Amino acid sequence: MESATLKFRESTVKAKPLPRHVGIIMDGNGRWAEMQGRPRIEGHREGSASVREVTRCARRTGIEALTLYAFSSQNWKRPSLEVTGLMELLREYLIKERAEIMENGIRLNAIGALERLPAFVRTPLEALREDSAGNKGMVLTLALSYGGREELVQAMQAVARRVENGELSSDSITEADVERELWTCDLPPVDLIIRSSGENRVSNFLLWQGAYAEYVFTETLWPDFRGDELLDCIERYQNRERRFGLTSAQLRALP
Ligand code: IPE
Ligand code: IPE
Ligand code: MG
Repeated sequence: MESATLKFRESTVKAKPLPRHVGIIMDGNGRWAEMQGRPRIEGHREGSASVREVTRCARRTGIEALTLYAFSSQNWKRPSLEVTGLMELLREYLIKERAEIMENGIRLNAIGALERLPAFVRTPLEALREDSAGNKGMVLTLALSYGGREELVQAMQAVARRVENGELSSDSITEADVERELWTCDLPPVDLIIRSSGENRVSNFLLWQGAYAEYVFTETLWPDFRGDELLDCIERYQNRERRFGLTSAQLRALP
């Protein structure tokens, strides 16, 4: 879509309440490439162009936090050539996008078992994370080597340690005690979770955090998912009623 049209749409979407935090399961890179008879890695490469455009559009629209599911705990089991290719693309992304991230005041964050990433990714990731830590604009979180179950297990271990230390009794554990141990503890609640490529599943993404998120599933393959599609998803979100267990009448009566 032409940039002027996109900017106009961004301003109309902005006029209604926005989701504070959007999560995206960026799926369909492999199929995009395979459909054209090209190697899967080319789909991943084109997918990083979508990451750039969607990030720009989210920032301009005024989204506070964007969390992108880029590599799952389970993705390590893919053929080693694909895993290596993905890690190389990730390094390239971190180096190439650095200037734009810093210029736009974006804070780069990462969640997942980051210690499993190769040093050639961890080094530019940690550098950008540190250098952008003071930025006050949108928080861009990359979910890397991430799994929701793995996140919950480490949270349970942390809570269990507090019980062992006598800081907490098992009967007094609250939702807040679990939440403070999640990797997302400093992010706003996730309002909208998008999945591209026509798959209707969550594949281990933000399992706890998504309890009351709105889900939008779209048929578009990730390399074809750009800013206009993000705005479509936000509009779908804006047309829904989030009831959190209440009735519509109760919601209308709220101050
Ligand atoms: C998403 O695209 C990217 C990652 C999971 C790393 P896929 O690689 O899963 O693409 P499909 O689902 O095979 O088309
Ligand atoms: C989910 O996609 C993980 C990411 C987008 C990073 P997958 O392609 O790995 O999920 P499944 O295998 O279809 O559930
Ligand atoms: Mg997939």
